[in-house]
Amino acid sequence: MSTNVASHLRFQERYPELGRENIPVSVNTSAEIFELEREVFRRSWLMVGRVEDVQEPGSYFVKEIPTLRTSILVTRSNDGEISAFHNTCQHRGNKLVCSNHHGGRAKGFSCSFHGWTYDLKGNLVIVPDEDKFAGLNKAERGLPKVNIGIWEGFIFVSIDPTRSLEEWLGERYSQFGGYFRDLHCFAHMSSDVKVNWKIFLDAFAEGYHVPFIHGKTLPDAITGEHNPLCHVLDIQLFNQHRMLSLPANPEYEPSPVEKLIARHIKAPVFPALKADIAKLPPGINPTKDPSWGFDINILFPTSYFAPWANGMLLIYYFWPISVEHTRWEVGLYWNKPKTAAELLNQDLTAKMTISVVREDLSSLETTQETLLSGSLDTMALSDEEIAVRHGYHVIAEAISNIQG
Ligand code: FES
Ligand SMILES: [Fe+2]
Repeated sequence: MSTNVASHLRFQERYPELGRENIPVSVNTSAEIFELEREVFRRSWLMVGRVEDVQEPGSYFVKEIPTLRTSILVTRSNDGEISAFHNTCQHRGNKLVCSNHHGGRAKGFSCSFHGWTYDLKGNLVIVPDEDKFAGLNKAERGLPKVNIGIWEGFIFVSIDPTRSLEEWLGERYSQFGGYFRDLHCFAHMSSDVKVNWKIFLDAFAEGYHVPFIHGKTLPDAITGEHNPLCHVLDIQLFNQHRMLSLPANPEYEPSPVEKLIARHIKAPVFPALKADIAKLPPGINPTKDPSWGFDINILFPTSYFAPWANGMLLIYYFWPISVEHTRWEVGLYWNKPKTAAELLNQDLTAKMTISVVREDLSSLETTQETLLSGSLDTMALSDEEIAVRHGYHVIAEAISNIQG
């Protein structure tokens, strides 16, 4: 298996424009920088869910976006159109729908305060005691629309876009060829963590930490004798966006439960190398390495999706709340299970993911505290951490553009 490395500094040689300097920690503790970042988010396209989250006419979900101090209501109306609105009643501003993420099905939305009611296209249709409102024009009091774009089944919104979603995605736009389809969300979790959003995202933008912080859960599955330090298969940087391709351990010895499930679903469980490598689109496992485990795709600023070789799709959402506070959500997607073994496999995967992400979370709050102590001026980054370096580079560039 070829998972290794032509040069010790292969990525720094490929992307010399990023330099080799250490990164000042102050960018993760400055409230002033954070407010500029908030403005960058306002002008960005942000992933908020999948089309499968609003599969049927009348389905909806709510996505809280604390970074933008707003809540977004995403609906699919009876004609199949998917729309996004500010989740704000246009009478006196009550939040219209309260649930986060998987909302459910509805014919419309009735405000809990005074009963103003909107249809799935955001039109205001019922105002109790309407005659008492002098000059009220219901057509002018619909829910405010939010710009929406759909790409490869991912739903994006933008409050104040500077470009179309296609332009925003650039090279990435055409690299996936309809790969993500017929998925369903089998697990969702969220957590508010006292850490800057960039420190949080950095923890998921390199493989360097895997043999250490995931020493108890992952090393046999990802790393092994062939690749003990989890060198990535590839890292590709695209203007503002980036991707990492990571290996699995071809010598992984499945647990007895995994072997049992694998017999019934007729495929390995984890790392499930059942992908037909030759059929993958260019955006997935770009080196077409047979020991491929999964890819990490980060679309600027924080949209994060990770296709796994076994067909699972993992989505992370990072919503900055303040300079040292971030909301994080995880969504796990796979095909709808057709057998008990597939159901058990998804359940097992969800439980294992929780164990792994708990390890990821374990270092974050203490890192933020340490940075605030003033005892570290800069972060040193290895070649394997070039996607982290790229993240700092592109957010600094975006800030200078809005200042400029
Ligand atoms: S605020 Fe919604 S009906 Fe009054
Ligand atoms: Fe991790």
